[in-house]
Parts: sequence; structure tokens; C-alpha cells
Amino acid sequence: MSTSIPPSTAASEKSRSILNNWISAVGGVLAGGAFMSFALLVWIDFTRRDSNPYLGIFTYIVAPGFLIAGLAIFFFGAWAQRRWQIKHAATKPDKWRLDFSDRKQRRAIVLFGTGAAIFILLSAFGSYQTFEYSESTQFCGEVCHRAMNPELVAYKRGAHARVDCVECHVGSGAQWFIKAKINGTHQLIAYTLNNYKRPIGTPLKNLRPAQDTCEKCHWPEKFHGNIDADNSHFLSDKKNTPYHIRMLMRVNEGQPDSPAGGIHWHVNPDSRVEYYAADEKRQDIPWMRVTNLKDGTSRVYRTEAFKGEPAAAQIRVMDCMDCHNRPAHVFPTANTTVERAMAAGTLSTKLPAIKRVAVQAMTQSGMTDADAAGKIATFLQGKYASAPELADTIAEVQRLYATTIFPDRKADWTVYPNNIGHKDWLGCFRCHDEKHKTAKGESVKANDCKSCHIILAQGSGPALETLSAKGLDFKHPGGDLDPELTCSDCHNGGIQK
Ligand code: HEC
Ligand code: HEC
Ligand code: HEC
Ligand code: HEC
Ligand code: HEC
Ligand code: HEC
Repeated sequence: MSTSIPPSTAASEKSRSILNNWISAVGGVLAGGAFMSFALLVWIDFTRRDSNPYLGIFTYIVAPGFLIAGLAIFFFGAWAQRRWQIKHAATKPDKWRLDFSDRKQRRAIVLFGTGAAIFILLSAFGSYQTFEYSESTQFCGEVCHRAMNPELVAYKRGAHARVDCVECHVGSGAQWFIKAKINGTHQLIAYTLNNYKRPIGTPLKNLRPAQDTCEKCHWPEKFHGNIDADNSHFLSDKKNTPYHIRMLMRVNEGQPDSPAGGIHWHVNPDSRVEYYAADEKRQDIPWMRVTNLKDGTSRVYRTEAFKGEPAAAQIRVMDCMDCHNRPAHVFPTANTTVERAMAAGTLSTKLPAIKRVAVQAMTQSGMTDADAAGKIATFLQGKYASAPELADTIAEVQRLYATTIFPDRKADWTVYPNNIGHKDWLGCFRCHDEKHKTAKGESVKANDCKSCHIILAQGSGPALETLSAKGLDFKHPGGDLDPELTCSDCHNGGIQK
């Protein structure tokens, strides 16, 4: 029995795997924890009907990233151990071995094992926390502060300030699942690299369809009646003359017993309105089709310049979002912002022509986040040298600007049209303009102002004391209206052209 290698060493050499080493052990634990998180997150992702795209970043990028890193360390340990064994076969082949027979190592191994168990448990807990966090408005609106701040500010003052971002922004179902995952990941990368688009482009292509969002809370059977709207304006004269338009919006005629008529007719269950927009922002609509779903008949309306049919893929079925395209983040125009502050009393109406001057101050060209406040102050000081209201007025106009216009992100009303009306943007008049005709020459009403609303009272003072049930003709404070022009040819949200 005389060989050159002692028998005990030979036996351990054989039975011992090269995976038995400290480096592989650390890699193994990391991989184990990552796998645990990954499995849990995948489970959450699949079992929650409405999981969100940002969770996907953790599930399909971060967790697998750690898993791969763990496995890499695991196999690197084996490789390093093998190299070492070959090089140092004669001297000390077992440098990194976990050796239970060594007392000192035994303690280390027990400690390590406990740590590893805790780590794996924590990573499971952590994945649930990650999930909760990725669902929160805070994550969407505040972590991505630089990118999302304008939307967050607008959202907080809106009617939906307590509806979570993900309720509207994340689709459900397999198709949305993949789309949203890709999109969410893409957004986070763009944010990290600071090369996201400014402005963030709209309309968004991956919004959840309106039936799944809006109709969860506002189901069409629940629409109730018409709406009495009272719009407060101020003219651009020295006296800042108030001018009200009080009108009855014919939103839901004949509710609740008869089929929806009035403005919400577009989303009634018996008809389908489809359209084709020639531009990205859906402002230029040359073609539309109305289908009676009961008898299958349809009418097609076209502008004179548009011939033929659009490609099927470019046709969009009209839904809530085509009118309510800014349900959560309205960027009001400078004109509206100033008028609202005057009506609310936060902007004093004592300074002459403050309506016009404040709008001018807010729409100076070339302002940035950094210099806007200064430029507004200088502009107002230039107009009202030493009025007692000046300091408050400057502070208020600066505040109005800061909460509605975001120059560095390029987010304001000029970029995000609101389609609900027709004064500052085309809105309803994209289709209701008398220029879209059927082959027989019928058009969609526009000059018939009373089909959408009835003006009950207008002007100021005593003129508002009696209401007209029949409806008044609109008395335009800017002079007689030229029928050739549409409102948004002159009104642009800033100073009228
Ligand atoms: C009630 C539904 C709803 C909620 C809640 C909502 N959004 Fe939106 N959001 C929309 C719609 C609809 C659009 C598309 C607007 C358009 O096409 O003009 C949009 C657009 C956006 C855009 C694109 C830029 C822009 O201004 O149009 C961003 C960014 C955005 N939302 C972020 C958020 C964040 C952050 C939250 C939560 C703090 C949130 N949204 C909550 C419906 C919603
Ligand atoms: C989670 C429930 C919920 C969802 C989802 C929701 N809303 Fe609302 N919405 C509300 C509530 C509650 C109010 C009433 C708020 C108030 O009285 O100020 C409201 C108010 C409104 C109003 C009238 C008030 C205003 O000033 O705008 C409109 C219009 C509206 N929602 C449209 C929409 C549209 C369009 C969508 C889909 C993009 C939507 N909502 C999604 C709950 C919801
Ligand atoms: C043709 C454009 C248009 C479409 C499409 C449309 N709305 Fe409206 N909606 C309006 C207008 C205009 C008002 C009146 C309020 C205003 O002028 O802001 C209104 C008012 C509302 C209100 C407040 C009054 C009420 O009836 O409770 C809600 C809520 C609402 N819409 C939800 C929806 C939902 C949900 C859908 C989709 C199923 C939808 N709307 C589709 C134009 C539209
Ligand atoms: C297709 C429907 C429709 C037609 C036709 C229509 N309007 Fe309107 N109009 C609206 C809606 C919707 C709003 C409300 C927007 C909002 O919620 O602020 C509105 C708002 C207004 C306002 C109030 C604007 C403000 O900011 O205070 C005036 C004034 C007005 N319309 C005048 C007219 C006149 C004049 C005509 C006829 C030449 C006309 N409208 C035709 C849908 C229509
Ligand atoms: C995509 C094009 C399109 C847009 C945008 C649009 N409409 Fe319409 N609207 C139509 C069509 C098409 C009809 C039906 C014409 C017909 O009877 O053939 C219609 C019909 C109507 C009717 C008559 C409904 C009835 O009871 O028969 C009203 C009221 C109306 N629209 C209001 C509005 C208002 C208010 C807006 C803006 C908030 C608006 N529409 C935006 C296409 C549009
Ligand atoms: C030829 C250009 C022109 C057209 C077209 C036009 N306006 Fe005006 N509008 C003006 C001017 C100028 C004023 C007066 C400005 C002032 O005193 O603030 C004015 C004032 C107003 C005001 C009160 C002040 C304000 O800025 O809100 C309302 C509301 C208004 N117009 C609504 C409309 C509506 C609705 C239409 C379409 C039916 C329309 N205008 C079409 C030029 C126009």
C-alpha cells in the first residue's frame, strides 16, 4: 500500500465537487433569493388581473438580473476552484472549500447558512413590497418627478385625484400585458437615461380602453341628465368687465328611460361612430362613419378633399377618450387660468386690464423653469410701476404659471389640446363643421348651436337675472361673428389673434 498520494486525500479529492466552495455558496444563495423573488413576482403578475407595467421591470428585468448574477458567481466559483486545483494540485488544492470538519469553518458555515435563510425570506417579503410600491401614485408621479411632475400637479387638482394612475394607464388581458411590460420598461430606461420625450407625446397608444376604465365608475346607464354650466370670463378692457355664459349642456337627453340622445349619443349602445384622423394628434378628421348597430346600415361623411376609404387599421371607434381626452390632467390655457383666479378672487381685479396683462406675462416667449418667475415680475413691474396690489399680483401670477405651464418639460395647453369644447381648440368642430358630407350631401350639424347647448343667460349684472328656457343667440363679446371663421381661428388660449 505505498502510493505517492496519501489515501485520505485521494478520497476527498474524488468525492469533493468543485461546486463545494465559498464563492459558489454565495452565488447560490443570491440566485436562490432572486429565484424566489422572481417566482413570487411572476405569480403576482399573473394572478392580479390588473398588474402594472412597472412591476414588470422588477419581475422580468431586476429579479432575473440578480438570478443571472447569482448563477454567474456560482459557476465562476467552480471554475476558479478548478483552476486552483490544477495549478496547486501538489500544495493546497482546496483553498475555498467548505469544510465541515474544520471547527473554525463550521461556525462560519452555520452563520452563513442562517444569513442565507434570512436573505431568502426577506427577498420574498421584498417582492411583495415592491409590488405594492410599483402600484402607487407615489411611484408613478413622484419617483419619476422630473418627467411626470406636470401631470401630477394637474392630476391633483382634477376630478380624479383619488383614482390611481394605474387605473387608467394600465391595460388588462394578455394583449395589454405584453404591451404594457415593454412600454413600462422602455419608459423607465428613457427616464434613467434622461432622454424621454419632451413633450411626452399624446394621444397615448397604450391606454386601457375606456370600457375598462371610465365605464367602471361611469357606466352609461348611470349618466344623468343635462348639465347647467356657468362659465365666468373677463374681457380684456381696462375695467376687466366680467362676462358670464350660462348654458345648459345637452349631455344626456331623455335619460334614463329612452336611449341616450344628446352629446352622449356617440357612446350609445345602438350606434357606432368611427373616424379616421390624418394627423398624430387626431385633430384633422377627414372621414367618419356612423353605423346603426340594430339594422346594420351606415352613413359615411367625408371632407371634400378626402376621397376613398382609409385603411381599416387607421379607423378608430369613438369612445369616451375622444372627447374627454384630458380626464385627469387638464393643462388649462393661460386665458382660462387667469379668468378662474379672477373669479375666485385670488387675483385682484383692481389693477386696470389685469386680465390681458396677466395673460401676456404668462405667455412671454422663451421662458424656462429657472427664469419664468423673474420675467413675470419684471413684466408686471413694467406695467404697474407702484400699485399697492402689485406684490400680491406678482406672486399670484407666478403661482398660476408654475402650476399650469412647464417650459422645461414642454408641457402646457399648446401641446395638449382638450377636445371637450370648441373655443380654444377645434374639439367638437373637428367633425361638427358642416364640411363633412355624405354622398347625399347631408352634414353633421354645427351652426345649429342649440343641438349641443342652450344659452340660458349671458353678459354681466342684470342680464344674468332672468333665464331664457328657449335659449338665446350667442352674443359674442368680441364683436359679431364671421361665419367663415371658427372660434379657434382667433382663440388660442393666449392673447386673441
Ligand atoms: C382618469 C384616468 C387617468 C388617471 C387617473 C391618470 N391618467 Fe394620465 N392620462 C390619461 C389620459 C386619457 C391621457 C391621454 C391624454 C391625451 O391623449 O391627450 C393621459 C396622459 C398622461 C401622460 C402623457 C402626457 C400628457 O400630459 O398627456 C402622462 C405622463 C400621464 N398621463 C401620467 C399620469 C400619472 C403620473 C398619473 C397619476 C398621478 C395619471 N396619469 C393618472 C388618463 C388618466
Ligand atoms: C375609480 C372611479 C373612476 C374612474 C375609473 C373614472 N372616474 Fe370620472 N369621476 C369619478 C368620480 C368619483 C367623479 C366625481 C368627482 C367630483 O364630483 O368632483 C368623476 C367625475 C368625472 C367627470 C365630471 C367632472 C369633471 O370635472 O371632469 C367626468 C367628465 C369624468 N369623471 C369622466 C371620466 C372619464 C372619461 C374616465 C375614463 C378615462 C373616468 N371618468 C374614470 C370616478 C371615476
Ligand atoms: C361626443 C363627446 C363625448 C363623448 C364621446 C363622451 N362624453 Fe362625457 N361629456 C361630454 C360633454 C360635452 C359633457 C358635459 C360636461 C362638459 O362640457 O365638460 C360630458 C359630461 C360627462 C360627465 C359628467 C356628467 C354626467 O353625465 O355624469 C361624465 C361622468 C361623462 N361625461 C363621462 C363619459 C363617459 C364615461 C364616456 C364614455 C362612455 C363619455 N363621457 C363619452 C362629451 C362626451
Ligand atoms: C357639436 C356640439 C356643439 C355645437 C354644434 C356648438 N357647441 Fe358651443 N360648446 C359645445 C361644448 C361641448 C361646449 C362646452 C365646453 C366646456 O365644457 O367648457 C361649448 C361651449 C360653448 C361656449 C362657452 C365657451 C366658454 O368657454 O365659455 C359658447 C359661447 C359656445 N359654445 C357657443 C357656440 C355657438 C355660438 C355655436 C354655434 C355657432 C356653438 N357653440 C355650437 C358644443 C357645441
Ligand atoms: C369623430 C367625429 C365627431 C366628434 C369629434 C364629435 N361628434 Fe358629435 N356627432 C358625430 C356624428 C357622426 C354624429 C351623427 C350624425 C348623424 O346623425 O349622422 C354626431 C351627432 C351629435 C349630436 C346629435 C346626437 C343626437 O341626439 O342625434 C350631438 C348633440 C353631438 N354630436 C355633440 C357633440 C359634441 C358636444 C362634441 C364635442 C364634445 C362632438 N359631438 C364631437 C361625430 C362627432
Ligand atoms: C375673429 C376672431 C374671433 C372669433 C372667430 C371668435 N372670437 Fe371670441 N373673442 C374675440 C375677441 C377679439 C374677443 C374679445 C377679447 C376680450 O375682450 O377679451 C373675444 C371674446 C370672447 C369671449 C370672452 C372673453 C374670453 O377670452 O373668454 C368668449 C367666451 C368668446 N370670445 C367665445 C367665442 C366663441 C365660442 C367663438 C366661436 C363660436 C368665438 N369666440 C369666436 C375674437 C374672436
